[in-house]
Amino acid sequence: MWYSLSASVALLCIASAVHVQSLDLKTAKDQPCFNIPNPKTPILDEKWVHSINPMYFPVGSTNSLYRVALNVLQKEARDVGFATVYYDACLKWYMYDNGTVVSTGFNGLRKEYKTKTLEDNPDAFTFVGEGGDKDFYSGTLYTTLTDNKSFFFATICLKNGEMAWGVASTTPTLTEETKKKVFDHAVSLGFNKEDFTELKYDTCKN
Ligand SMILES: *[C@@H]1O[C@H](CO)[C@@H](O)[C@H](O)[C@H]1NC(C)=O
Ligand SMILES: *[C@@H]1O[C@H](CO)[C@@H](O)[C@H](O)[C@H]1NC(C)=O
Repeated sequence: MWYSLSASVALLCIASAVHVQSLDLKTAKDQPCFNIPNPKTPILDEKWVHSINPMYFPVGSTNSLYRVALNVLQKEARDVGFATVYYDACLKWYMYDNGTVVSTGFNGLRKEYKTKTLEDNPDAFTFVGEGGDKDFYSGTLYTTLTDNKSFFFATICLKNGEMAWGVASTTPTLTEETKKKVFDHAVSLGFNKEDFTELKYDTCKN
């Protein structure tokens, strides 16, 4: 009796632990798209952007981190543990001047995107995942903050109307000063602090 009770309690704990640790896109979602500034003059130096390969993804909203990772993995959220994402993702971006953007991660997996600059906003482009039947991450990306030398902040309106953000940077970590600038900017756009996340590259093999 005691044995079977403790065994089922143990099973229950394992089951709920597995459940809790997989990615939860519903909780990670930010508010619908609004409040995205449309600058009159370009704020991003295109030449600079295309000269950095790769770019790292050190901070962003949970929503964008999960979705970029799922697109690279081509798996459903329930089949991916969040520890996997934080420790093994090692996400990197490559932007080419022919409009192709590639994200890599998880030891050699990759996902390609086709982009198209918006006519009325040179700092914005639409992006659509290519190949594979799962698409968690397509939408429009607006650069809303940059220093044209170490990072740019992307405010993203996903095609399902959810909002996300992420920072692309030349280095795997940001300085404290840049991090503060970036977090303040995210708050000013209405993003929820609880959904800010940092990706670690310390254990990445390459
Ligand atoms: C970045 O480059 C763009 C395009 O050249 C320029 O308009 C913008 O003022 C620059 N911004 C900064 C912060 O250097
Ligand atoms: C754009 O350039 C990259 C890098 O050279 C290449 O891998 C990709 O296939 C090209 N995309 C298109 C649509 O030509």
